[in-house]
Amino acid sequence: MASFFIEGGTRLAGEVDISGAKNSALPIIAASLLTDKKVVLQNIPDVVDVRTMIQLVRHLGASIEFKGRKLSIQASCLNSVEAPYDIVCRMRASYYVLGALVAREKKAVVAMPGGCAIGPRPIDLHIKGLSSLGTKVDISGGYINADARGLVGRKVDLQGPKGTSVGATINVMLAATGASGRTEISPAAVEPEVVDVANFLRALGVEVSGQGSHTITVKACDRFEERIRYRIIPDRIETGTFAVAAAITRGKISMHECMSEHMTSVFEKLDQVGIGVSQTGQSVTISGSRQKRATDIFVAPYPGFPTDMQAQFMALLSIVPGTSTIKESIFENRFMQAVELMRMGADITIEGDTAVIKGVKKLSGTHLMASDLRASSALILAGLAARGRTVVRRIYHLDRGYENFETKLRKLGARIRRVRE
Ligand code: EPZ
Repeated sequence: MASFFIEGGTRLAGEVDISGAKNSALPIIAASLLTDKKVVLQNIPDVVDVRTMIQLVRHLGASIEFKGRKLSIQASCLNSVEAPYDIVCRMRASYYVLGALVAREKKAVVAMPGGCAIGPRPIDLHIKGLSSLGTKVDISGGYINADARGLVGRKVDLQGPKGTSVGATINVMLAATGASGRTEISPAAVEPEVVDVANFLRALGVEVSGQGSHTITVKACDRFEERIRYRIIPDRIETGTFAVAAAITRGKISMHECMSEHMTSVFEKLDQVGIGVSQTGQSVTISGSRQKRATDIFVAPYPGFPTDMQAQFMALLSIVPGTSTIKESIFENRFMQAVELMRMGADITIEGDTAVIKGVKKLSGTHLMASDLRASSALILAGLAARGRTVVRRIYHLDRGYENFETKLRKLGARIRRVRE
């Protein structure tokens, strides 16, 4: 198993190119199964979750070539409708093949994803959405068995206890391409990755409208475009993570190939904390040398502050003078990084869904255990700012979603190396 060894205390400076968005790439790769035509996807990040999705669509019968961020997929015919447990258990987003298989084959057998480190993560809205379109769904033996011979476009209500769902919106959009007539999804998630999937479907030739609003309409598609080329949007969470890297090390980082229009809530929060944010075109420069102030963060669906950025901000706020709070309203168990930060000297108290962070002068390096993807990046950021050496274990979580993270950090001056133990 590999760990990161980090020597803290260097101000990061320089330039970094942002990779393609993992959370767009995963559903778009699954959506490429909708057509028998060749699809060429650009800006695909080479991360473990993408490799897992490639393995899954290949298992279902697609031919794939992945070279230099360009992924070519052709699913001329599918030879299986089953997403097996040994792949699904490695990555929840495997469930995106459910919507694609239902649309194309009118049948799918997909292992039930379990909970994960950040909470129980139910899939009731995915099932409800597909059932509304006339799919018979039976869950037995740990598998979702979907029979979609009667797939019809309808109004689909995706209101859940926490609002709507990114994953369910996408799965229903994919299924709706194969349903007769017109499907209206409401409330639909408005995250940029949902919009990216909708734009990809349009590139395929599907009539989709309303993406980016709370009502998305999808019409059945029986003729797909011949040659499809599509470029995935930049990763807004990677952008935010490098922004916090500049802030926490009091450095200055320019990020290129990013979309600052997806970053409004994160950049506003950095500005409130006293971090300089200047934007020109597709580049943003973050400068962390000024005096910082405590703040309160309320996590919310897009365009609110993203749950995928709260761990990194917790690391930052742990060394910002004054008392800050973070209220996490989306996942039940997403403060796992807090106990590790406390082992570095952070003063954090968890009260239900709220973390109260009293800024300390300095964190000190120690041995840490990463628990999930974003917690991993938060611990690395804390290590970069800490006194002495930090060792972060279980970094396989990080490899699932950040492309060349330590190489990019090293280019900015970080003293970080991967050590296999
Ligand atoms: C996506 O997860 C992302 N994953 C997550 O990123 C991200 O944190 C999340 O959206 C929120 O933005 C991918 O895109 C692969 P949801 P998803 O369904 O689709 C509840 C990362 O680090 N819910 O919008 O699973 C759910 O429990 C990851 O990259 C139901 O109740 O998120 C949660 O409280 C982690 N029933 C809320 O809705 C359902 O059927 C939002 O979840 C589905 C979800």
